[in-house]
Amino acid sequence: MKPLTVLGIETSCDETAAAVVRLDGGRAEVLSSVVASQVADHAPFGGVVPEIAARGHVQIVDRVAERALSDAGLGFEGLDGVAATAGPGLVGGVMVGLSFAKAVALARGLPLVAVNHLEGHAVSAKLGAAADYPFLLLLVSGGHCQLLSVEGVGRCTRLGSTIDDAAGEAFDKIAKSLGLGYPGGPALEKLAEQGQPGRFELPRALLGRKDCDFSFSGLKTAAARLAETITGDQDRADLAAAVQAAIARQLSERSDRAMAEYAKHHAHRLFVVAGGVAANRTIRRVLEEAAARRGFAFLAPPLAYCTDNAAMIALAGAERLALGLTSPLDAAARPRWPLDEARALADPTHKPGRKGAKA
Ligand code: KG4
Ligand code: ZN
Repeated sequence: MKPLTVLGIETSCDETAAAVVRLDGGRAEVLSSVVASQVADHAPFGGVVPEIAARGHVQIVDRVAERALSDAGLGFEGLDGVAATAGPGLVGGVMVGLSFAKAVALARGLPLVAVNHLEGHAVSAKLGAAADYPFLLLLVSGGHCQLLSVEGVGRCTRLGSTIDDAAGEAFDKIAKSLGLGYPGGPALEKLAEQGQPGRFELPRALLGRKDCDFSFSGLKTAAARLAETITGDQDRADLAAAVQAAIARQLSERSDRAMAEYAKHHAHRLFVVAGGVAANRTIRRVLEEAAARRGFAFLAPPLAYCTDNAAMIALAGAERLALGLTSPLDAAARPRWPLDEARALADPTHKPGRKGAKA
């Protein structure tokens, strides 16, 4: 099969990103990856403001894409297709990137691939090393926390997901109660380096349940209460370390259960972690150890491709394009778009609402 070169566009949250990826015989090569972060625009509000995000994307998406092409040393004629995140995410922003990609597809006669942002995260580890399907995936980001059996392109079965907050959301909210800036994950990780995880006891969620679901709201409340009572830098660092350890422990316990289940049906044992929280070094280490105990190979994306980027969208688009899975020019932007749609529809606990968006 001839190599496929795809321009990817990502605008589902607060990064305007464009990248060019070449997929050749199962190996992905990132020819360029540009990420323009809006963090400074949202920082005064302590979180992402959807209207500001959408407007920000409109202002620069064309220049970011132009830069991705020039960094790759290519013009539009060097592309085989254009891919854009079509959801899930903040729909105003998603519409900007998707409309831009549609315009490119129409003007240049290129096939369009509307990509599920979560599928982008799912393939992101392949941007650092070649890996074959199937694999067990822990997807941990600001909006999502789930364990999935990934059988092939677009074929996923969910083994568990959060019943309240996502892991990244827990990091962000607890960081806020510790007086750290947004996004909280990296700031909390930094503070935790100076702390002792054993000093504060924090609740363990869903003890006694045997499924692979997650819950972080109890931890969030307990940490917020403690944050109000403590004083001094050492206390704050110790609390940060305890929070990070508690999140890492929950992720590793549920992943361990999922690996045990997954191993019953799969001889090829690969455990992949992806999403912004996969940038956390303690979490990567703990998960790698959990994988080794179960005899699973472990793969995490290069740090730059853990958080939102367009290289993962371009790669997911290229994998779809290789199978002829292209999208019509009227493909819709979707605020919600679960990877395992059948399971999401069938499982009544996954209603619209708090759990829905994260499932
Ligand atoms: O994947 P991502 O960029 O966006 C979503 O699709 O949600 O993930 C962003 C999330 C934020 O909640 C951020 O705090 C968290 O990932 N995050 C981290 C770290 N870096 C980013 N959490 C813990 N430790 C980190 N080093
Ligand atoms: Zn993401």
